[in-house]
Amino acid sequence: MNDTPLIRLDHLSAKVRLPDGGRLTTVNNVSASFERGTSTAIVGKSGSGKTSLASIIGLLNNDYSGTLSYDGRDCAAWSDADRSHFRCRHIGFVFQNYSLIPHLSAWENVALPLQYRGGTPMRTIRRRAVRMLHTVGLAKRADSMPSRLSGGEQQRVAIARALATDPDLLICDEPTGALDTETGDMVAAILFRQVQELGVTLILVTHDPQLAARCERRLTIDRGKLS
Ligand SMILES: Nc1ncnc2c1ncn2[C@@H]1O[C@H](COP(=O)(O)OP(=O)(O)O)[C@@H](O)[C@H]1O
Ligand SMILES: [Mg+2]
Repeated sequence: MNDTPLIRLDHLSAKVRLPDGGRLTTVNNVSASFERGTSTAIVGKSGSGKTSLASIIGLLNNDYSGTLSYDGRDCAAWSDADRSHFRCRHIGFVFQNYSLIPHLSAWENVALPLQYRGGTPMRTIRRRAVRMLHTVGLAKRADSMPSRLSGGEQQRVAIARALATDPDLLICDEPTGALDTETGDMVAAILFRQVQELGVTLILVTHDPQLAARCERRLTIDRGKLS
């Protein structure tokens, strides 16, 4: 049994430069651990630093002080290539705005991370992509373009894409933020079912207390500080 947390944050802080030359602290001295196979909601109002923190944890932003480690390994020394390599093997992302590639069909979108990872024949990738779409109830829409899909369907494609590479960690940033309540509930149900079935570690960023309540643990962020 591996007791090391999947992710550890130690005194993590980040700032952004403002147009007037000033600096704004977005993440303020955050320390936390995320154990494998657990689900954690990070809750906070708009502008509290949720996306800033999630993008550091997701290795999308390297401009921070303090320590971020995966499996006990400090990520500070990793090159851009190391970070992309790790990201495409271990981390899946779901964003509020779905972020599908508009000129690719549903299955081609799901196939993308598998293609980036390399080493798998296209026929196998297509089969895997269609199977992932099946798990989110969209097998019949595999050839549809994103513009032909509803918001809820697009987000289900994004979930299938995020999970296609069998990641250890899934980071969802306001995954139902652009959906009406009913559609959001349905997408959340699919998300949580998949996370549970695959044993993925979930970090779910949201301002929605009802969505946060579905996670095993809730952390609150306020002006960059986590509690
Ligand atoms: N690149 C940036 N330039 C200027 N301000 C930023 C930038 N990124 C984030 N901010 C500011 O930092 C704060 C935290 O932003 P963010 O992490 O996006 O919050 P949340 O996701 O909780 O809404 C906000 O006040 C936001 O306006
Ligand atoms: Mg945000």
